[in-house]
Amino acid sequence: MPIEKIKLTNLRNIEYTEINLANKFNLFYGENGSGKTSVLEAIHLLSTRKSFRTSSTNQIIKNSTQSFTIYAELSDVSNIGIEKKHSEPIMVKKNGESATVAETASRLPIQLINTTGFQLLDMGPKLRRKFIDWGVFHVEHAFFKVWQKFNNALANRNAILKKGGSREYLSAWNSILIDNAMLIDKYRKKYFEEFCPIFMEDIGELLDIPINLDYFRGWNEDRPYEKVINNNLMKDKMLGYTQYGPHKADLRITAYGEPVHTRLSRGQLKLVMCSLRLAQGRHLYKTTDKECLYLVDDVAAELDKNYLSRLVSQLNTMKAQVLVTGIENQHLEFFTRYGESRMFHVKHGKFFPENVS
Ligand SMILES: Nc1ncnc2c1ncn2[C@@H]1O[C@H](COP(=O)(O)OP(=O)(O)OP(=O)(O)O)[C@@H](O)[C@H]1O
Ligand SMILES: [Mg+2]
Repeated sequence: MPIEKIKLTNLRNIEYTEINLANKFNLFYGENGSGKTSVLEAIHLLSTRKSFRTSSTNQIIKNSTQSFTIYAELSDVSNIGIEKKHSEPIMVKKNGESATVAETASRLPIQLINTTGFQLLDMGPKLRRKFIDWGVFHVEHAFFKVWQKFNNALANRNAILKKGGSREYLSAWNSILIDNAMLIDKYRKKYFEEFCPIFMEDIGELLDIPINLDYFRGWNEDRPYEKVINNNLMKDKMLGYTQYGPHKADLRITAYGEPVHTRLSRGQLKLVMCSLRLAQGRHLYKTTDKECLYLVDDVAAELDKNYLSRLVSQLNTMKAQVLVTGIENQHLEFFTRYGESRMFHVKHGKFFPENVS
């Protein structure tokens, strides 16, 4: 659901601003420290209550003020507002009524493309599991409960293993663990099978290098989970934790048989990361009719003109509102070739709309 208007008060260097957004591309350019990323951060907060820059939202409150507010009017005339006061939790309201994170995140699903996004490719599997699960959460409503049950059983089983507990105690948790592990795997596998061809199309448009995507479920494909749990009991006891299961799943992204981060350049990796995000938004739209909102920070970083223009043209094919930042307006000129776009010059926390030809 596109945002039509956003109002920000006392957020980082922004004292007050109202921005009327275009349904498609919104381009923010300006000097370092002018406030561009802060707008993306505000929208991220609106959807998730979390910043992508800090775990302490107090830091976002403008110096020498008591609270920040973010208010957005959506194109279906609904609205979401949040307020954060020092040392108080964030308050979120949807149409004037208190709202949960699940409600705002489902109303305003977002995809973030920024430099920390490389971690999806070069860090451990945790973020990639989170990536798949974001997709599954949004399309399979039963998934969250199953995921909670599995994690609860896993925590209890691990606690018993640590104490060298008996088979009897373990078997009570084993059956819950096994049933829910199989369900998690089923949901993730289904998502992966639908997601993969969409990703292949995007990456095919962006990069001339063959990229492979494989889903690893966290235990051997040929063995039932029950057998894996039973066969590894001694080793699990020795280690004090459960070695195999959906908590070890991964999305393996490779080029020439190696993990992409060991083979590709930074620009090439950025396009892999963008393809994952684009494909996730396309899948969501295809299965639920919900549009993701894309936050693309410093779009031109790492990309030459050829790659940048390919990325912009792929973003243009998305049914999505996009907010993009860049240091120079030339970095954003590829966007102005397409449909409706609005450009804003950001200076010292103030936003000046500019005409785009
Ligand atoms: N709590 C705060 N109160 C006041 N100003 C702040 C606060 N936190 C950060 N700032 C300042 O607000 C500005 C916001 O920066 P932001 O990251 O949005 O800039 P940017 O335009 O994205 O810059 P860059 O091009 O370097 O990425 C910075 O100048 C920063 O120093
Ligand atoms: Mg920035």
